[in-house]
Amino acid sequence: MADSKAFRPKAPVDRSLFASDIEAKVKALRAQLHHHAHCYHTLDAPEIPDAEYDRLFRELQALEAAHPALVTPDSPTQRVGGKVLDGFSPVRHAVPMLSINTETDTEPAGAQNFDARVRRALGLAETDPPVGYVAELKFDGLAMSLRYEHGVLVQAATRGDGEVGEDVTQNIRTIGQIPLRLQDVPSGSRGPGETLAVPAVLEVRGEVYMRRDDFEALNARQRERIAAGEKGEKTFVNPRNAAAGAVRQLDPAIAAQRPLSFFAYGLGEVTPAAQGGPRFETHYDLLQTLKSWGFPVAAQVQRCLGASELIAYYQHIGATRDQLPFDIDGVVYKVDRLDLQRQLGFVTREPRWAVAHKYPAQEQLTTVLAIDVQVGRTGKLTPVAKLAPVFVGGVTVTNATLHNEDEARRKDVRVGDTVVVRRAGDVIPEIVGVVPTAVRPEPFDGLRTGPVGGLRPPPPERGPQFTMPRICPVCSSAAVREEGEVDYRCTGGLFCSAQRKQAILHFAQRRAVEVEGLGEKLVDQLVDGGVVKTLPDLYRLGLTALAGLDRMADKSAQNIVQALQKSKQTTLPRFLFGLGIRHVGEATAKALAQHFGKLDAIMGETAESAATVAQLLEVADVGPIVAESIHTFFQQPHNREVVEQLRACGLTWPEGEPAPREALPLAGKTFVLTGTFPTLGREEAKALLEAAGAKVAGSVSKKTDYVVAGAEAGSKLDKAIALGVPTLDEAAMLALLRG
Ligand code: IVH
Repeated sequence: MADSKAFRPKAPVDRSLFASDIEAKVKALRAQLHHHAHCYHTLDAPEIPDAEYDRLFRELQALEAAHPALVTPDSPTQRVGGKVLDGFSPVRHAVPMLSINTETDTEPAGAQNFDARVRRALGLAETDPPVGYVAELKFDGLAMSLRYEHGVLVQAATRGDGEVGEDVTQNIRTIGQIPLRLQDVPSGSRGPGETLAVPAVLEVRGEVYMRRDDFEALNARQRERIAAGEKGEKTFVNPRNAAAGAVRQLDPAIAAQRPLSFFAYGLGEVTPAAQGGPRFETHYDLLQTLKSWGFPVAAQVQRCLGASELIAYYQHIGATRDQLPFDIDGVVYKVDRLDLQRQLGFVTREPRWAVAHKYPAQEQLTTVLAIDVQVGRTGKLTPVAKLAPVFVGGVTVTNATLHNEDEARRKDVRVGDTVVVRRAGDVIPEIVGVVPTAVRPEPFDGLRTGPVGGLRPPPPERGPQFTMPRICPVCSSAAVREEGEVDYRCTGGLFCSAQRKQAILHFAQRRAVEVEGLGEKLVDQLVDGGVVKTLPDLYRLGLTALAGLDRMADKSAQNIVQALQKSKQTTLPRFLFGLGIRHVGEATAKALAQHFGKLDAIMGETAESAATVAQLLEVADVGPIVAESIHTFFQQPHNREVVEQLRACGLTWPEGEPAPREALPLAGKTFVLTGTFPTLGREEAKALLEAAGAKVAGSVSKKTDYVVAGAEAGSKLDKAIALGVPTLDEAAMLALLRG
């Protein structure tokens, strides 16, 4: 939002409106912008995403540009930056804190445009060599000026309106990454002829921000406080907001509990070279010196030659943006040579030698059209908000999960609400929060015709509080929430067509038995039409049944029949995984197949002879919950029936003996460990034995083959001796392992 003035009005203006309408519109926009600027700057609690604020701002700018008579001195377009809060002393910046021109073209062309402007301003011909730049991250925090006198931090000030900021020294002192005292750099660590001494006056400019993990932890703590009934506590919308709140906390003790970080990216006032101050040739050099004086400088700072390297940087950072531990909203390009920077100078209050190149916004506004409840493969019910389509984080989003009932209620999302949607990287889109003051969310493409403001719609337009249905929305079986669980589950099992569909899709997926071409639409048709009720029904599908389906060409029907035929030759791990046993993923399915060798060793010829929980626990990585789940699965007659029928339909896989295990030197041997070993930790010893095929048990019995005893071995050793179980020390065990 701080960059709004950088946006150029481009929007078309409908000149057919009456003057009084336009005046009313301008007033309404101003009132809205004032409200949101107050929420953002003074309360640190924005209600709308920056992108929406920028749209409103541009809309006003466009109207004012078309009707200059309507411009007033108090218009938000005539003012930059934040308002100085009561409670902090004002600080006049010795060197103004400027803003940067923003390149809103999120295509690589943004970098080309900047390079072309720089070259033109420097009077360079096409044949002249490329300009050297420094490319940096554009941190999404708040700008800070740190003033050091004789190496001691004496003042920290916010940007404010660029001329006058707020004195927040006490709060900034609590940031561990900001040095309170600077040390001269030992000579020899830098190039020749450079000043290493810390100048008498040094103002370092940079960004205070909050890491995403720190932000999540802070919000988790805040939620606990709210739950504990502490007054005046709130959660924060995003890391930048939380950082701004912390910096402008009037109580430094509270500020200290909000974990902040800092990156340096430039200088303010500095003792001139003539008076013994540093003489830097390049911006890069300046950053390296700041680093050597103890300031955090982002590792991503990079020298780039010409537009092509700027584009490569923009693309590389864009692709890896979500892996950074903090938020950025773009990158910044700066001309590297300081003499060229001076030559380029400023236009109004923006340097001609720097530009911010933004990425597509990760947050946008939209409205909630409905809240649906979806049923997953295991019967889990998930509330999903259906949204008016919105372009965010590079894709069009129409759904956002609300996870569960508690989450939906905590956010109090209701039908008709205007919400902030966030989509970062490949992450599933999520609803950040509800906007209490409704704003028309469609992208600005001219004059808005409807009201720009208003309250959250009243009922019946605004729906009731979300409640999870107590019956499955698909099959009407009871939906229950078990003690201590957050999720409701449909109890219908495979009676529930939603679960059946998911079960079929799971079975047919590439990582399971793989039936090429069997996608969601086809499965919907097959299940809804009652053609497929259980997995084996798939293999009973004939060409006629398939070709009879809506929009199914003969050729596609043939392909499906062939794909089904092909899927019959599979492997035991794929088959086991495909059955969709709760908690059995691909890795567990592989471990089971390897351990037991054949399916009958797991499911038994009858339910009574199926592998017991204890036997299942012998499988590497299978714990009590997984073992219980596998055991229960094969005790259900209908599950056994499904497996039998699939085999009868011709599904086969190579089976073996659990050969590799028996070949292991200690296969079938049971060990018990007791006491402390001279070199190995308990877990290490256990892992070595298990890797050799042994089982490590917790207590000694007649069936125990060896007890390995270390120092201070207790009752287990006594028992071994009493039962006549052979005992070993660590060295003997290692010898046994070596075979
Ligand atoms: S340089 C004269 N470098 O972006 C140029 N600013 O409008 C002064 N920002 O609020 C700024 N990352 O706090 C610069 N690597 C970076 C930056 C950066 C973030 C912020 C800055 C200011 C806005 C510039």
